[in-house]
Amino acid sequence: MHQDKMTSYWIRISLHDQGLMEELPNLPHLKGLHQCQDLPHLILELDGDDALIDRTLRLLEGLGEGLEIVEAGIGPWRDESLSKRFSLRLRIRAPGFKDKDAILIRTSSSFGTGLHPTTEMCLQLLEDLMEDHVLKDVFDLGTGSGILALCATRLGAQRVLASDIVMDACKEAFLNVQLNGYKDKILVVQDSHEIARPGGFDLVLANLLEATLKRIIPEIPTLLRPEGFCILSGLTIGQMKDLLLGINVFQTLKTLETSGWAAALLKKKF
Ligand SMILES: C[S@@+](CC[C@H](N)C(=O)[O-])C[C@H]1O[C@@H](n2cnc3c(N)ncnc32)[C@H](O)[C@@H]1O
Repeated sequence: MHQDKMTSYWIRISLHDQGLMEELPNLPHLKGLHQCQDLPHLILELDGDDALIDRTLRLLEGLGEGLEIVEAGIGPWRDESLSKRFSLRLRIRAPGFKDKDAILIRTSSSFGTGLHPTTEMCLQLLEDLMEDHVLKDVFDLGTGSGILALCATRLGAQRVLASDIVMDACKEAFLNVQLNGYKDKILVVQDSHEIARPGGFDLVLANLLEATLKRIIPEIPTLLRPEGFCILSGLTIGQMKDLLLGINVFQTLKTLETSGWAAALLKKKF
């Protein structure tokens, strides 16, 4: 029997009827209840599985119009997280949340809730890039939960190859691809960069550890079309500086830094 793994969830609510405050501590598996830092909202933190989050959302909806569910997410709540960082085009939600425009991400073992700074910066660079460029073919190398592949598709990519060497990550990415209805656009494979067709991509996304990136970076230009792009992340600020110093086939268009991590948008020179 399939068993969902326990994980952390948060639900952000707006309470119009303060009388409902009494009901909230009775929610199953409630771990924390606190005021949002700079919004008149409450955050409910829960530990559970997808079935629990569904149940809790239904329970909250059942409390009537005195309470509004603003959003929900996977992972520990951070005040500066999701909704404020991602634009309206890229809203990431936990499965079960009723938001037809959001990208649904379920993660249990794979990396990629969207909350890690390395993922967040990739998404910021991706969104900026795709605002001005049509990118038909994208390769998401080290897809984890599939989050970058899904967001690239949402932003207009027509075909995305998403690979990961870890089978569990591939399974989760595949489930997320299904969940979001992108089976015809995203192909998930258990492999590394060797699976990708040389010269076949407008963009390579690579949020990987330093040792892996150092090894793979010389191969990335060969995967790209002339003037193709690459978004790198997963490195500390110092590691990124060292890596960029050592490569000359790319022009660095933009770098971002958050909490000691760096990400870069590069363009193939020729
Ligand atoms: C830091 S996570 C990034 C996940 C997701 N892309 C994101 O941005 O949140 C790195 C992922 O790369 C995978 N990975 C590590 N080495 C790899 C390789 N050589 N080829 C493909 N995937 C790899 C890991 O299994 C992991 O899922």
